[in-house]
Amino acid sequence: MEDDGVPEGVSRLEGRPVGGWGLLQIAGCTGLTAYSVWAFILMPGFRRVPLKLQVPYMPASAKQVANVMTLLGGRSGKMVDLGSGDGRIVLAAAQCGFNPAIGYELNPWLVRLSYFHAWRARYLAKVSYRREDLWKVKLNDCQNVALFLAPSVLSLLESKLLSELSDDARVVSGRFPLPTWTPSTVLGDGTDRTWAYDVKTVRQALESEQQSSAGP
Ligand SMILES: C[S@@+](CC[C@H](N)C(=O)[O-])C[C@H]1O[C@@H](n2cnc3c(N)ncnc32)[C@H](O)[C@@H]1O
Repeated sequence: MEDDGVPEGVSRLEGRPVGGWGLLQIAGCTGLTAYSVWAFILMPGFRRVPLKLQVPYMPASAKQVANVMTLLGGRSGKMVDLGSGDGRIVLAAAQCGFNPAIGYELNPWLVRLSYFHAWRARYLAKVSYRREDLWKVKLNDCQNVALFLAPSVLSLLESKLLSELSDDARVVSGRFPLPTWTPSTVLGDGTDRTWAYDVKTVRQALESEQQSSAGP
């Protein structure tokens, strides 16, 4: 007779070792589920992006968004968020008067979510979310750039920004600083810390560093 409260199926399994084949099946199913979530929900559209350049979605906090807007305060013109997630920074920029305000995002679910948020805020006509690879976007006519990316990609991004942005551009980086650039302003503490870089000042600092390292 079986113990009260123990389902029949479970009691039949009790005491039976899970063999090698069973373990293999469990591992296979777990791996397949994890891969499916990664490929179809978290990182769809990233197949052509090298693994070391893939940055997962982690939305900016309200404080981080506010810091970006403060650091872009008093500026105007085109604003882009490289890897725009659910579009919150672009939406805030449009609400602060930046025109155009554009987000580049490879994940199609997040692009749809961004448009939903813009529609709900009645800003649909003032924002644009493009399903494009940020590494392939030309930034020559951008005056204001926001990025919340991972340290692993920031060094490569420095080179891209330096070769494409004009002197009057400002770059605002959240969570992590650009590795070799000198910031003009730093705002906030801990994970809310946000760095602003004026491209003209960065170019001048890099040039004088090169000159001093070249010697007399
Ligand atoms: C850490 S999240 C930041 C999201 C948003 N900027 C924010 O702060 O709320 C980085 C985003 O960049 C996107 N991303 C990563 N690599 C990308 C690429 N090569 N092209 C376009 N988007 C990319 C990811 O899908 C993710 O949504």
